Amino acid sequence: MDKQKEQNTQKPFNLVVLVSGGGTNLQAILDEMKADNLGGARVCLVISNNPDAYALKRAESLGIPTKCISPADYPTRTDFDNALLLALKEAQPELIVLAGYLVILPENVVHEFSGKIINIHPSLIPSFCGKGYYGLKVHEAALSRGVKVSGATVHFVDEGTDTGPILLQKAVYVSEDDTPQTLQRRIMEEAEWKLLPEAIRLLAQKGKDK
Ligand code: GRF
Repeated sequence: MDKQKEQNTQKPFNLVVLVSGGGTNLQAILDEMKADNLGGARVCLVISNNPDAYALKRAESLGIPTKCISPADYPTRTDFDNALLLALKEAQPELIVLAGYLVILPENVVHEFSGKIINIHPSLIPSFCGKGYYGLKVHEAALSRGVKVSGATVHFVDEGTDTGPILLQKAVYVSEDDTPQTLQRRIMEEAEWKLLPEAIRLLAQKGKDK
């Protein structure tokens, strides 16, 4: 079978990306997808808990379906958990990518999609991770500890916070004059925006080889 036909008969490797904010990591994924450099993976749905997330606009501008599922719109946390689980089941993703998703993922989702969820964290796990380490807090903690190297980690998601198996890591040097903001930006540019598409590419390739 020629390469084109082989690609056409292959099951698509569908991704659902969960976001909360600006979506620069989502953008990095979309750019690689447009460049046909994501191992055949494609984003089929973007879900945000925040209706104002700019990430939603990035997806919409490419015609990618979006949904807002926010805990604030449900009477109980269990109702939210079930709504998110239902939306994910309907999308039937091969992989769920947390790209700056600030909600603790419901346990029923983690169980249903065990081994099929990855997260990007802006430090070298196990440093500066776990409960309370999100956004600028991660970089504030790294600078106040005085580390000379930080970076980013892509890991599988389990029931804990940032405790799942590590898939990829990339180190980034800390400069003497770094602020939390400059360190955050450099870690995004040098590590996160490369590492997350790379992880997706790896897993998509692995999925196809099965
Ligand atoms: C990134 O630093 C990511 O590592 C963290 O949240 C931030 C999200 O940024 N989990 P963006 O929304 O992708 O721009």
